[in-house]
Amino acid sequence: MYSEKVMDHFQNPRNVGEIEEASGVGTVGNAKCGDIMRMYLDIDDNQVIRDCKFKTFGCGAAVATSSMATELVKGKTVNEALKITNQAIMEALDGLPPVKVHCSLLAEEAIHAALWDYAEKNGIKIDGLAKPKADIGEEEEEEEY
Ligand code: FES
Repeated sequence: MYSEKVMDHFQNPRNVGEIEEASGVGTVGNAKCGDIMRMYLDIDDNQVIRDCKFKTFGCGAAVATSSMATELVKGKTVNEALKITNQAIMEALDGLPPVKVHCSLLAEEAIHAALWDYAEKNGIKIDGLAKPKADIGEEEEEEEY
């Protein structure tokens, strides 16, 4: 039921850990499944993401999607990273079962939360970036039911 890529990123997750003195840190959770994800971004003066690490207290799909998300944002500018949707993360993993879509949403929101933290710390505004939600399950309920 899981693609080979999902299994690979679940079993050998990339970029697990923390970044000390990160440019931005974002933590998001989903109250329904209880899973939590934290992203760390290291961003240079040109707004390019030099490094990205994650930690998750979450399911296998959360591990795989956050692992893939870190790979996708590395080397991107802040604005490019903002455009990485959960859809793009899922495509990069060759898909996820429908019940696991919210896990990829957690990864997208964790990136946004870390970017928000970076923007706040530096007093800048990133166009198109909304304040992170405390619980990403809020939105998902409308879509699923
Ligand atoms: Fe909640 Fe996967 S089941 S993040």
